[in-house]
Amino acid sequence: MASPSGLLKLLAVCLAMISLSEQASITPYDKQNILQTFGEWLQRQEDNADPRLDYKDEKQSQHAMDDYWQGLALQEELNHEGEVFNGELFVESEWPEEKTELGQIAGVATSQKGDAVIFHRANRKWEEDSFRDNVYTKKDSGPIMEPTMVTMNRSNGAILDSWGQNLFYLPHGLTIDDNDNYWVTDVAMHQVFKFGKNKAVPELTIGKAFEPAINNDDMERLCKPTDVAVTKDGIIFVADGYCNSRIVKYSSDGKVLNVFAQDDMWVPHSLALVEELDLICAADRENKRILCYNAGLNNAELLGYPNRAYMDKDVMGRVFAITYSKTDGLLYAVTAPSDDLPGTGFTIDLHTKDNSNNDIIAVWSPTEEGFEMPHDLDVTRDGTNVYVGEIGPNKVWKFDKTK
Ligand SMILES: *[C@@H]1O[C@H](CO)[C@@H](O)[C@H](O)[C@H]1NC(C)=O
Repeated sequence: MASPSGLLKLLAVCLAMISLSEQASITPYDKQNILQTFGEWLQRQEDNADPRLDYKDEKQSQHAMDDYWQGLALQEELNHEGEVFNGELFVESEWPEEKTELGQIAGVATSQKGDAVIFHRANRKWEEDSFRDNVYTKKDSGPIMEPTMVTMNRSNGAILDSWGQNLFYLPHGLTIDDNDNYWVTDVAMHQVFKFGKNKAVPELTIGKAFEPAINNDDMERLCKPTDVAVTKDGIIFVADGYCNSRIVKYSSDGKVLNVFAQDDMWVPHSLALVEELDLICAADRENKRILCYNAGLNNAELLGYPNRAYMDKDVMGRVFAITYSKTDGLLYAVTAPSDDLPGTGFTIDLHTKDNSNNDIIAVWSPTEEGFEMPHDLDVTRDGTNVYVGEIGPNKVWKFDKTK
């Protein structure tokens, strides 16, 4: 097939670019499909075949032409932006500029603006005698009196804000939703809290204070819940937790909707919601794997249906935390040192159809030795930075997409 004349081509690219940018939002999945079709076109052209002949009628052929122009425009756009992000992250060595004294770092999240928000235990520690039969033994010490929530400036790591004194006994998970609500878990209290504007009184509480759930069927209580994920409509998922093995789904006002993944996991330690694929992924910590289930947002009947799993014990150690970047369609994970494997960061492409370890597109770490004890991570909403919190020695790392 003779290639279109340069001028015509340019015009078409411009038109296609306009139509591309007019589309509400092209997901990474769409992009991948468009580029794949485009690649097939190019291949056919190289083979000196007219790809339009692949199509039976004019309408189909027109569709194919549309795909071609869209692919061309997208390719130009990507060339313009530079390389497609390959998933590798680089530590920013001068961040924070000044060292901050924090206690055991449990939760890490990002503010709307991309600052790091840290949920830590101040002078309190999770120790061997902290629990007896899952009941917290140090209730009499009262809540932690120092601020447990700290916001660190994205540019230099300086502390911008702190709160969360006299509220928590043993902080664990932290999630900040798109509406700027703070969702936290306290493993000593066996509860989940939602904080809106008022940071002194929770808007919503799930679970009964200091009462561990008896088993996976106990829907009144939780047992050392680890993490929370919240949809844009406010549907809540709780990973429960150190003693139970389940994920509980709640309505936005905290009513139990369903429970799934019972007994699948050995410490579900972290959750990541992928709304565009209707998936909820969990870090199955001690089993050294990541499991993704249907989140039942589009079809309630599919809730809990296994969709993807990443588990190769030669590659992946104990997975402490996962987070999903909508911008890039990538899942980030951190593992702690396990057997011979160093503590490592993983980047997994959830939009491929492989569903295998080929989806792991990059590994990264702050030093040659790797992470020592990473506990949580989060990605900024614009997808450009990832923060990782380590629990002993306690520190926060900031990663960039470029060196
Ligand atoms: C964060 O740090 C930058 C660089 O020093 C500074 O310009 C900015 O004002 C700081 N942000 C806030 C909210 O203080």
